Amino acid sequence: MEVTNPNKALWEKGDFTRIAETMRQSGEEFVETLGIEPGMKVLDLGCGDGTTALPQARRGAEVLGVDIAANLVAAGNARAKAAGLDNLTFREGDASNLEGIESDRFDLVVSVFGAMFAPRPDAVAKEIVRVARPGGRIVMGNWIPGDPTLVAQILKISAAYTPPPPEGFVSPMTWGDEDIVRQRFTAAGISGDNIRFERAQWAFRSDLPPSGLLNIFRDYYGPTMNAFAAAEKDGRADQLQSELTDLFESHNRGSPGTEVRATYLKVLVTKG
Ligand SMILES: C[S@@+](CC[C@H](N)C(=O)[O-])C[C@H]1O[C@@H](n2cnc3c(N)ncnc32)[C@H](O)[C@@H]1O
Repeated sequence: MEVTNPNKALWEKGDFTRIAETMRQSGEEFVETLGIEPGMKVLDLGCGDGTTALPQARRGAEVLGVDIAANLVAAGNARAKAAGLDNLTFREGDASNLEGIESDRFDLVVSVFGAMFAPRPDAVAKEIVRVARPGGRIVMGNWIPGDPTLVAQILKISAAYTPPPPEGFVSPMTWGDEDIVRQRFTAAGISGDNIRFERAQWAFRSDLPPSGLLNIFRDYYGPTMNAFAAAEKDGRADQLQSELTDLFESHNRGSPGTEVRATYLKVLVTKG
């Protein structure tokens, strides 16, 4: 009997490409800060359909995108092909166990709101460090627990409507806590001097009004879909819809259309 991996099932649910379409400009801006040079070997972990992997490859890097969701890997490979990028490959894999990927291989390991969602975060830190080359860099973008901006609030509101996670589950939001992230990377062999943090902003943009952008999350973003499914069972779907509508409307700064910015923690590590 096939055993279901709930982490994989969550991200194969819906269609994250629909959210990713609202983030392309932020992906470009993020990659602009990475100092990509032609020929650089880059691993993009939890790459989705390539919001950051495509811009990396367009700058001439040799990019491997790894993601747990088969549908997003297929979407990424289709986008790379359509863009004529033969220096970019997407493949299925789990950030907690990068078996098949040799140690010390990459100049740069990037994970934008990706590896944070993998189970066993200590193993994730060890795997990221293992596959980076000595002197190589690691850059993560992670949502911040308790942050008042969009995504942390969507996840917080959604969690209040979903059943409690199984015992032993470590919240992905712990990747937005500087002390915990420092502990994870030092346990993986990185010296504290080689770990830095910055705060940055990520934007979601749509021609639709805020309610339209919310509908995209409700219909295509796994964590929000699960929250609505659970809320419906409890007869609380209207309440969830109204909380999220208030959230999206109060954070919107676009007109016409929607632009919502969310703060995230940028983790910058050098493998000494
Ligand atoms: C919020 S999306 C971000 C996708 C992409 N980095 C972007 O910015 O468009 C989270 C991604 O992490 C992937 N993911 C979740 N758990 C993972 C795991 N254990 N290993 C690899 N990827 C994972 C999901 O499939 C999804 O593509």
